[in-house]
Amino acid sequence: MISTMSPHTQRGKFITFEGLDGCGKSTQLEKVAAALRAENVLVVVTREPGGTPTGEKIRQLLLDTGTSALAPLSELALMFASRAQHIKEVIQPALAAGQVVLCDRFTDSTEAYQGGGRKLGSEAVLELHRILCGDLQPDLTILMDSDLAASVARARRRNQARVSAENDENRFEQESRAFFGRVRNVYLAIAAREPQRVAMVDARGTPEETHQQIMNAVRRKLKLVTKTA
Ligand SMILES: Nc1ncnc2c1ncn2[C@@H]1O[C@H](COP(=O)(O)OP(=O)(O)OP(=O)(O)O)[C@@H](O)[C@H]1O
Ligand SMILES: [Mg+2]
Repeated sequence: MISTMSPHTQRGKFITFEGLDGCGKSTQLEKVAAALRAENVLVVVTREPGGTPTGEKIRQLLLDTGTSALAPLSELALMFASRAQHIKEVIQPALAAGQVVLCDRFTDSTEAYQGGGRKLGSEAVLELHRILCGDLQPDLTILMDSDLAASVARARRRNQARVSAENDENRFEQESRAFFGRVRNVYLAIAAREPQRVAMVDARGTPEETHQQIMNAVRRKLKLVTKTA
């Protein structure tokens, strides 16, 4: 039997997608996955909260509009419960096997939404990340920046097109403009604090324009040869 995990397997790369609700993370992540697979790169696509059977149950609890009166600290703890499981069960094994992990949201979302939006502060989030996540850092984070109104409008249009009683993931989208303003400010602060890791991409253009910007950052990180169109 040939083992796919030789001791010389190079560690994979961990790439996360961040930004406000509706900025286009899931759309762009799928486009990156397709582009890398076309070049025979082994890609794992996953998301937070979620990514494991346990995590998906936690996701349902967190995003369902029917979950009422969830205390901000409970919300924070649930986000990290999902993440710790996800790292152990999916992310670390894939990286150890040399794969490229594309993850829709990670700890920057917790810092932005729970730290900023819910005003729990960055320090609590970063401390929990150290304790519960072994301080695992993405090799690259694509931060898709757009203005508040545009993102929220996109998310609402998308939700209207996808009317489904069982798939109600709008709990955060019901938050106020001020909430999303705080979320965006924390995202911008993270990008300024960690310019080596975070690549800011303008998400206001067409999906194809945004995709090209993202692929430039991904190719640089993975050291793939740039394709000339
Ligand atoms: N430049 C762009 N990049 C990605 N999506 C875009 C762009 N321009 C318009 N769109 C549209 O905006 C919507 C983005 O939705 P998507 O589900 O990808 O966002 P998201 O960031 O994953 O949202 P959420 O945080 O709620 O999961 C899609 O309907 C997509 O077609
Ligand atoms: Mg999404």
